[in-house]
Amino acid sequence: MESIYGDNLPRMEAVRDELLEEIQQVRQQLTEKYGMDPVEHCSSRIKSEESMREKCRRRGLPETTESALTKITDAIGIRVVCAFLDDVYAIRDYLVRLPSCQVIEEKDYIRHAKPNGYRSYHLILRVHDEFYAEIQLRTISMDTWAALEHHLKYKKQVNGNTDLIVRELKRCADELASTDASMQTIRDMMYPQTEGEDKEDRKR
Ligand code: GTP
Ligand code: MG
Repeated sequence: MESIYGDNLPRMEAVRDELLEEIQQVRQQLTEKYGMDPVEHCSSRIKSEESMREKCRRRGLPETTESALTKITDAIGIRVVCAFLDDVYAIRDYLVRLPSCQVIEEKDYIRHAKPNGYRSYHLILRVHDEFYAEIQLRTISMDTWAALEHHLKYKKQVNGNTDLIVRELKRCADELASTDASMQTIRDMMYPQTEGEDKEDRKR
């Protein structure tokens, strides 16, 4: 069977690498500025053939290259895990200014967490007017929660009281968020020079 991406894969990989390179750039800039690496770790993937086809079906789209590249916007995915909350926004600020990228959508699931407690900052970019990429920016705590929640979601057997489980997961997410806020406050006290310049805007 032919790839759902047709012959676009090498160019998609190039775009992914370019984005990773940009993240390295901002990482270096911020490390020089603040003496602290804002990124804990960074990962990327091209959505697998199988999950792209599954997503097309789920969305009622034909399993074509057109669907995969123009209707679905996360064929290229990058996840940037930051140490502190302010770092998430600093990296977001850099990425939205890239001349090679057009911002298609921004979802701030940090200020507006999903009802289940999921938090992250999602950016959909169009790179070189050619491919979409989804960038997920989050803190270590948010990443931990998302990983554990994902584990639980994909376990076949769900035992016990689902309502209680949903509530407990939400409670954990909120506790982690409160810890993130406290850790940021501690950093601001220790290193006031690292404080995000537009922090006041974000609080509003
Ligand atoms: P898909 O979920 O990809 O079909 O698209 P969407 O339009 O719902 O976009 P959204 O921004 O909500 O989610 C995109 C991605 O964010 C997902 O593929 C996951 O990687 C991540 N994500 C969103 N919600 C959750 C969640 O509740 N739990 C976890 N673990 N990850 C989530
Ligand atoms: Mg979703």
